[in-house]
Amino acid sequence: MTASVKVVDHPLVQHKLTMMRRREASSAEFRKLLHEIGLFLGYEALKDLPLGHVMIDTPVTAFNAPVISGKRLTFISILRAGEGLLAPLLDLVPGASVGHIGLKRDEVTLQPSQYLFKVPPHVTTNLVIVLDPMLATGHSAIRAIADLKEAGARNIRFICLLAAPEGVAALQEAHPDVAITTAAIDEKLNDIGYIVPGLGDAGDRLFGTE
Ligand code: URA
Repeated sequence: MTASVKVVDHPLVQHKLTMMRRREASSAEFRKLLHEIGLFLGYEALKDLPLGHVMIDTPVTAFNAPVISGKRLTFISILRAGEGLLAPLLDLVPGASVGHIGLKRDEVTLQPSQYLFKVPPHVTTNLVIVLDPMLATGHSAIRAIADLKEAGARNIRFICLLAAPEGVAALQEAHPDVAITTAAIDEKLNDIGYIVPGLGDAGDRLFGTE
């Protein structure tokens, strides 16, 4: 089994992504654009949610209308840049439960070490959507998903804004059951683990830090 990768190549998404990549985009612009693209990514990643029906009254008639049923969602934000995708996903599904995983990247080994793991108990039964804008080496996503599986999660998907081919391959190999949704797969990683052409450090750009 190989995890599916969905690239959301809608012109609006691609245009907004280009605006975000620009060096001169401010944090406010970057945040707004990530939020907007996050709505499209969530729309795509959740397009197979099962529907049930409820009887409602419209002003015109009674109607057996479709509603999302049966699937409870948990969003997991990988700190800190995951916060930029959490907000739009919560706009789409306000009732989802939320967890946070803190992973710090060692700039020499590029390996993640965990400093926070706070997830709701529902991860064992819910559809769990892991959020991190940048799938670079894949180390953070692989570690976060392994930790979630260790906590009992069985049904996991991953949403990112940008991926490197190396990160996609590594995540697919480590977790072939986890579908990936992204806005683009860039050319490569550079020798310090940044995505090329990329957009720089997503956390710094989101929060205006350096
Ligand atoms: N994390 C980022 O924020 N940017 C990259 O290019 C790679 C990892």
